[in-house]
Amino acid sequence: MFRLNGKVALISGAGRGMGYGVAQCLARQGATVVINDFFADRAEAAALSLQSEGLTADFAVADMTHRQAIFDMTAQLIQKHGGIDIFVHNAGIPAQGWGYSKFLESTPEEWDSWLQLNLHALMHACQAILPHMIEKKWGRIVAINSDASRTATGMGLCAYGAAKAAAIGFIRNLSGEMGRYGITANALSLGTMNNWEGSEQVARKTASVARAGSPKDVGAAVLYLSSLEAEWVNGQVLPVNGGSLVS
Ligand SMILES: NC(=O)c1ccc[n+]([C@@H]2O[C@H](COP(=O)([O-])OP(=O)(O)OC[C@H]3O[C@@H](n4cnc5c(N)ncnc54)[C@H](O)[C@@H]3O)[C@@H](O)[C@H]2O)c1
Repeated sequence: MFRLNGKVALISGAGRGMGYGVAQCLARQGATVVINDFFADRAEAAALSLQSEGLTADFAVADMTHRQAIFDMTAQLIQKHGGIDIFVHNAGIPAQGWGYSKFLESTPEEWDSWLQLNLHALMHACQAILPHMIEKKWGRIVAINSDASRTATGMGLCAYGAAKAAAIGFIRNLSGEMGRYGITANALSLGTMNNWEGSEQVARKTASVARAGSPKDVGAAVLYLSSLEAEWVNGQVLPVNGGSLVS
């Protein structure tokens, strides 16, 4: 079950963190994976690391906030690999790192940058890739989202949470247009993940499975939503959060 032999998966922002875990998991199930990242050295190192495991991995450098760069990258990949069957939009935290900002101190420019990466990048990539998926009558879109879209974090995440919520609205509506073509569009809502300092302490207080989430947890959930077996799951948001938020 859940084998992906013959499928090509593009994962944005996969040079490290959750995206790398997703790429590793899909590749171990037989997919050819393409690691996208903003940073060339990071993307290449990630692809080499997967290749050293005997997996099939390529990399593609592009800034996911630039529409033309996304179209150029996807056109090249489709030509090189014969298609993109699975697209995982994982890049959601800016290349320069987090910027917590209390709402009253935040600027419209900051709001825009969160929207560019979390909503518009996903929409640009879908416009670039979906025509090819429609031709093949098969495809999987998975957006990595966050419980910040549906909680009162109080941590200065208003613009981030708003952008993530907008991406969920997009995914739900897109699923309604794509299901008839054998293409599904779903999202994961992640809780506290283990790649930042203090995350274990936070997760022990908030998650019933009392640990922070790992790239492997994310990879396994993306694998399910990308699989042939999940063809009847469409327009859904799957919480992957250790039980910290259950409704
Ligand atoms: N870490 C968490 O606790 C957490 C919690 C909930 C949701 N998430 C979500 O999980 C996803 C992955 O987060 P992470 O913690 O693994 O991030 P990360 O910062 O560890 O890795 C993200 C990667 O994306 C790349 N990237 C950033 N901007 C890019 C761009 N414009 N174009 C191409 N690549 C770009 C970065 O270079 C980096 O390699 C994000 O969507 C994030 O919102 C994370």
